[in-house]
Amino acid sequence: MHILDKLKKDHQQMKQLLMIMEVEIQHFISGERLDYDLFCSALEYLNRRVLINHHFVEDKIFELAQKRGAIAADGRHNIPLEHEKIAFLSTALKEALDKVEADNELPRIWLMSVAQEYLQAQRRHMREEEIMLFPAAKRGLLNADWEEIEKFMISRSQDTDIDENDLEDMRKDVLAWHQEVYA
Ligand SMILES: [Fe+2]
Ligand SMILES: [Fe+2]
Repeated sequence: MHILDKLKKDHQQMKQLLMIMEVEIQHFISGERLDYDLFCSALEYLNRRVLINHHFVEDKIFELAQKRGAIAADGRHNIPLEHEKIAFLSTALKEALDKVEADNELPRIWLMSVAQEYLQAQRRHMREEEIMLFPAAKRGLLNADWEEIEKFMISRSQDTDIDENDLEDMRKDVLAWHQEVYA
């Protein structure tokens, strides 16, 4: 599978999980109990998903696309900075979840706003990559660039003990869990 197709497939799977998180939050807002473990597992999946063969690959693609002139280096687009922002929002969301889990009296609307900010940032970011980064990379990168990215992916994936198979198992577990609750 081409690297861009792999990244797009990751996005499709991530959007599915974001949708699950949105449904969970809406239930919570309407007065139901928040399925804390399910919500945290979905968030954890998304964190791991971007850690393994995703964000650093896009950072590299972004760097090479700028080098090849396919993306203007005028600061209008900054994919690595957006990745940092998403990591920051993810940490803020996890902290908010832990606080709400520990203290039932906290306003539900507060968790909803933190969650909405995270969901919107993730969706907006993926959309920007799909309409800007990926087409620019497809146009501008040379075969040698794609080979360099592949090598980079292999060497980076050796740095971690989580692999694509573990991630896929985790994704299926979260989906099955959600379906069980809402079937
Ligand atoms: Fe990204
Ligand atoms: Fe992405």
